[in-house]
Amino acid sequence: MNKARHIAIIMDGNGRWAELREQKRVKGHEAGAKVVRAITEFCSCDKDIERLTLYAFSTENWKRPRLEVEFLMKLLQKYLDSELENYLQNNIRFEPIGDIRAFSKSLRQTIQNVKEKTAHCDGLVQSLALNYGAHDEILRAVNKIKNSQDDITEAMLGNALDCKHNVDLIIRTGGDKRLSNFLLWQAAYAELFFTDTLWPDFTTNELEKIIKDFTKIERRFGGLK
Ligand code: IPE
Ligand code: IPE
Ligand code: MG
Repeated sequence: MNKARHIAIIMDGNGRWAELREQKRVKGHEAGAKVVRAITEFCSCDKDIERLTLYAFSTENWKRPRLEVEFLMKLLQKYLDSELENYLQNNIRFEPIGDIRAFSKSLRQTIQNVKEKTAHCDGLVQSLALNYGAHDEILRAVNKIKNSQDDITEAMLGNALDCKHNVDLIIRTGGDKRLSNFLLWQAAYAELFFTDTLWPDFTTNELEKIIKDFTKIERRFGGLK
């Protein structure tokens, strides 16, 4: 039976969830943040799950209206401020990925602070992908190692990435079937699950069902059964 040690989720559909309720898109982001908390807590209680990587803001999301981007930044700040206690209580280590140099100084400090304060936690690792894009991640990694005397190996590149761990299971909510520049290197052999459920409606029950289906898949990694 497969174990979903590293689960990654493309949390999509917040805007549509709000629009369906004739609310502003940002209300969907607010509702989505609560689901992040619930799903993270659920994963922290499952001993088989070591990592949960959540796509929160892509390198392309800057294209959105300024007010929506500003709201997302404030929401992230609020989420991390209120979450530190919860991370510690549940023994969760916070390891952000992505290029946070583009964020404000105070947001960068908050991110750094939560990362440092949870560094000793040895339960679930929750990675939020913040200003993350796989192309950007790979380019930054290549630039880090390009002056090496030797030819670049798969291990060298893999270790220079923000996320150094292959993904077992990628889930995308919101109905679209694409990766939108998420973990392209690490997803080489990931199992992909797409659900129409909009992220604010996603539940631990649905996650449990997906994990159950995942455990039954025959993963061959290019070999034979
Ligand atoms: C995902 O939900 C959250 C972010 C990208 C920050 P969306 O905001 O993309 O919601 P839809 O896809 O427009 O419904
Ligand atoms: C992917 O959702 C990014 C996040 C969930 C943070 P998008 O809504 O940005 O993706 P596209 O534009 O539909 O591909
Ligand atoms: Mg979307």
